[in-house]
Amino acid sequence: MRFAYVLPTLVALGACAALDTRQSESTNSCHKINCMDDDQALVVANNFASLVSAYTQADAEAVLSPTFSDYSDSVIALIDSGCPSGPVPLGVATFSSRAQFEQGQGGQPNITFNIQNVWHNCDTVTLRWKGPQPNPGPGAPSPQAPVTGIIVLETQFQGFNCPQPFLINTVYSEFNSAAWLYDLNVFMPNCSSSGPPPGSGTTSGNNTNS
Ligand SMILES: *[C@@H]1O[C@H](CO)[C@@H](O)[C@H](O)[C@H]1NC(C)=O
Ligand SMILES: *[C@@H]1O[C@H](CO)[C@@H](O)[C@H](O)[C@H]1NC(C)=O
Ligand SMILES: *[C@@H]1O[C@H](CO)[C@@H](O)[C@H](O)[C@H]1NC(C)=O
Repeated sequence: MRFAYVLPTLVALGACAALDTRQSESTNSCHKINCMDDDQALVVANNFASLVSAYTQADAEAVLSPTFSDYSDSVIALIDSGCPSGPVPLGVATFSSRAQFEQGQGGQPNITFNIQNVWHNCDTVTLRWKGPQPNPGPGAPSPQAPVTGIIVLETQFQGFNCPQPFLINTVYSEFNSAAWLYDLNVFMPNCSSSGPPPGSGTTSGNNTNS
């Protein structure tokens, strides 16, 4: 990866995958050929973070795979303003192609996206993030409710000599969409009325667990 940037013409020719001889088997069973290390996992996590905090289409093209898709009922809840009737049904792919993601994310304001934790295995990166001010626009409630989320990023190995050895191929992302809808002035809670106790399973307060 360190010397990948001197090989742009080979990358352009699609030849980078053929140069994969740098990493080899080690005693750690996870660290086999094609297995990402901690630094590479951080690159993947930061790549996604930059698409939320400083989106450019060039970055999206550079770090997302051509077969990209994104699943997030939390994002769909925002798109639908919390309405179960749509327009986008819950449970489907939020963005089923890189072009759709670019159109959707490219139309969003950049937000602060602070990575709290990163975990990874050979080809998947999991991160926990926090956004202290999800709605940077005017007219948002102040102070805003921070939004916390967890994202699983499945990657596609390109080759250790490629500019991006691991492209993000599938995103599974969920976060506190209730807080975000509050920040967007869509959900206006009655803060003098308390919600159901934990575990009640209903808004009536009836405890269905006992
Ligand atoms: C988001 O940040 C990028 C990089 O700084 C910038 O090019 C882009 O215009 C910003 N997008 C919006 C909607 O402000
Ligand atoms: C908020 O909830 C309280 C307690 O249930 C209730 O008395 C009050 O009328 C509610 N206010 C609004 C605006 O709905
Ligand atoms: C709560 O549970 C009681 C006892 O089972 C039942 O009679 C009542 O109708 C329930 N209330 C609601 C709002 O579901």
